[in-house]
Amino acid sequence: MKIGIDKMAFATTDQYIDLTELAAKRGVDPNKYTIGIGQDRQAVVPPTQDIVTLGARAAQKLLTPDLARRLSTLIVATESGIDNSKASAIYIKHLLGLDDYVRTVELKEACYSGTAAIQFARGLVALNPQETVLVIAADIARYGLNTPGEVTQGAGAVAMLVSANPRVLAIEPTSVSYSRDVMDFWRPLYATEALVDGKYSTNVYIDFFKNTLTRYQQRTGRELADFAGIAFHLPFTKMGKKALEAVLQDRTDAVANRLRDQLAASQVYCRQVGNLYTGSLYLGLMSLLQNGAVAAGDRLGLFSYGSGAEGEFYSGIIQPGFATALSDIPHDLAGRHQVSVAKYEQLFNSQLGMRAEDVQFDTQADQAPFVLAGQKNHQRIYQRR
Ligand code: COA
Repeated sequence: MKIGIDKMAFATTDQYIDLTELAAKRGVDPNKYTIGIGQDRQAVVPPTQDIVTLGARAAQKLLTPDLARRLSTLIVATESGIDNSKASAIYIKHLLGLDDYVRTVELKEACYSGTAAIQFARGLVALNPQETVLVIAADIARYGLNTPGEVTQGAGAVAMLVSANPRVLAIEPTSVSYSRDVMDFWRPLYATEALVDGKYSTNVYIDFFKNTLTRYQQRTGRELADFAGIAFHLPFTKMGKKALEAVLQDRTDAVANRLRDQLAASQVYCRQVGNLYTGSLYLGLMSLLQNGAVAAGDRLGLFSYGSGAEGEFYSGIIQPGFATALSDIPHDLAGRHQVSVAKYEQLFNSQLGMRAEDVQFDTQADQAPFVLAGQKNHQRIYQRR
């Protein structure tokens, strides 16, 4: 029985900054951001949006009444949790109006947990092929104003249905996961921004990619030539290039060049949105499926990485219905509007964050279907339009 990703949808905020403008404000050569880091635009998050509203919006794009009735479980993968106890999945389930007999849970391991959610969902479907699991990978990547990580921020959610007889990607049985206790990136309970040793993290990422790919190749006997393309976790697009080149080295043969071209296709949306943490690999997968030279029957490799650290390499076969089972990302990105760096800084500083007092946000400026209206008696108030 084939099990895998049946449908995918992406949601981000409706505003962005141009990173050449940010470079000018920070006194940096814009080529450092657009070429050295590989990012052109970055999603800007108003205080009325968080992982719950973004996750609900992504899920709303792929659910039909019939699909919603078939859901057994909702797993939200995030490292931008809004509560230390209650799962964001419960808020999202409520906003979506899902049945109360749906299992709801949240998973965490930095940027990796979306992949764990998919593997756990696969297990549930293998036990009971009637089940459909909704996986939502939602995050807001925050490093702080005027920090080296600022240019690698971003925000958004990818919602995925995992089921038998999938339309997008049938996941193959062999996967290799690898974890080690590493302090490359973390966020203490009292902090709203991550602490990161970016250069160290880049090296650990490459190391984990080489380890998991090598073990995968040993177990399956497959070569790089067996992949039509590889989708990477993309905290910034240059990261995927660094990892791919670490295994291609100076190869210029047809296989190496094909993987480079497909990497470029997988980076298209990340360049426009920035880092999604848990959702980045899956936005990269959608980008590869919509912009790459791929066809049904092709094998794709997927490399997932979460600081701390955990990596996983696995693969899947593209299914015939893939083109019609993905949300229209170019349309959504074209509908965003640009804001100034000053406006971005003001919005950055007006998030709910760690505040304990009652707060009421002005929701008029936010046209999204789900908004965070504020906080009352220590409870977040969400609205569905
Ligand atoms: N034109 C073109 N490229 C330029 C440039 C210019 N004018 N100026 C610098 N660059 C290049 C550098 O050569 C470097 O390329 P390389 O990495 O291929 O060597 C790149 O731009 C970045 O420059 P660097 O000086 O290393 O940047 P930085 O010290 O500001 O830090 C990060 C960059 C990515 C380490 C930092 O943004 C960060 O920590 N981000 C968070 C990382 C993260 O997400 N970690 C989790 C991983 S999953």
